Amino acid sequence: MKRFIENLPKAELHLHIEGTFEPELMFKIANRNSIEIPFKSVKEIKDAYQFSCLQDFLNIYYQGANVLQTEEDFFDLTYSYLTKCNEQNVRHTEIMFDPQTHTKRGIPFQTVINGIVKAQEQAKSKLGITSLLIMSFLRHLSEEDAFKTLEESLLYKNKITCVGLDSSERGNPPSKFKNVYAKAVELGYIPVAHAGEEGDSDYVWEAIDILKIKRIDHGNNALQDTNLVQEIIKRDIALTVCPLSNSALKVVENLEEHPLKEMLNLGLKVTVNSDDPAFFGGQLNKNYIEIQKALNLSKKDMYTLAKNSFQFSFLDEYTKQKYLTELETYYQKNCATTTS
Ligand code: ADE
Ligand code: ZN
Repeated sequence: MKRFIENLPKAELHLHIEGTFEPELMFKIANRNSIEIPFKSVKEIKDAYQFSCLQDFLNIYYQGANVLQTEEDFFDLTYSYLTKCNEQNVRHTEIMFDPQTHTKRGIPFQTVINGIVKAQEQAKSKLGITSLLIMSFLRHLSEEDAFKTLEESLLYKNKITCVGLDSSERGNPPSKFKNVYAKAVELGYIPVAHAGEEGDSDYVWEAIDILKIKRIDHGNNALQDTNLVQEIIKRDIALTVCPLSNSALKVVENLEEHPLKEMLNLGLKVTVNSDDPAFFGGQLNKNYIEIQKALNLSKKDMYTLAKNSFQFSFLDEYTKQKYLTELETYYQKNCATTTS
């Protein structure tokens, strides 16, 4: 099973580039930029990655991002992640970035996006990996601030596919960003948002009804409301679920209690993702492997998850079909005749 998962062609749809910042690279970039970080060793950083909730994690996550200063830093960060995609048979990835985490510290939007885009281009030409960008607004900041970020993004509009919403969920409902999402949609961005990670099902309702999102990041708490589940299915909206993240941030007590199988059984379109792999103990394949073991998922389930990852990507139809055909061939060859 492990080998089957490792070789399975797949896409990642929920990934924060700042959350891929491995301690080794953090030290390297901190030294290069002569920035002090409050840790003496890689081990000390890793030991600090014990979280009791989302906010606990976000405090450390923003601290780590402080060392990123130059275009080269953003290139190195992004290319390092894309190399890992290559090693894991991740064919396509939809990368979130948080401009405000950097512009708030005086790093120009242009520095951030140019570094990321150069890495995307290099990964496409050297590794054959496709990727697109989701520009996420920080929900603990104001809608006015999000509007400023949206304006700044316009120079790079052809590099960005979606707008997203992340950071501290409780107390910052989707409705807070109603106007900026309406404007972003008018400009041609596809709307997605984190909802139902720590916030209740009401937040998921707001995200689909008010922000009119096309994909839900997390969405675990949608299960609190059967009408909402039916509505999500009816509108054919997928959930980007993050098992190791949910376990690390105590969204679930342990992986055995994770609702992913229940979601599949209800008919929800679920995908598996790593969220912030440097912080939560595993890349994408580890998420597939650990959730398979915890819930005793079949090869067919793993195939369905990978299929959803391509189907609910925002790729053009031609590329999507190309990846789906590759996945189909792999599945037929490796286990279509058995059910487990
Ligand atoms: N930013 C990075 N990871 C996040 C998560 N899991 N939830 C909300 N904001 C985030
Ligand atoms: Zn996330």
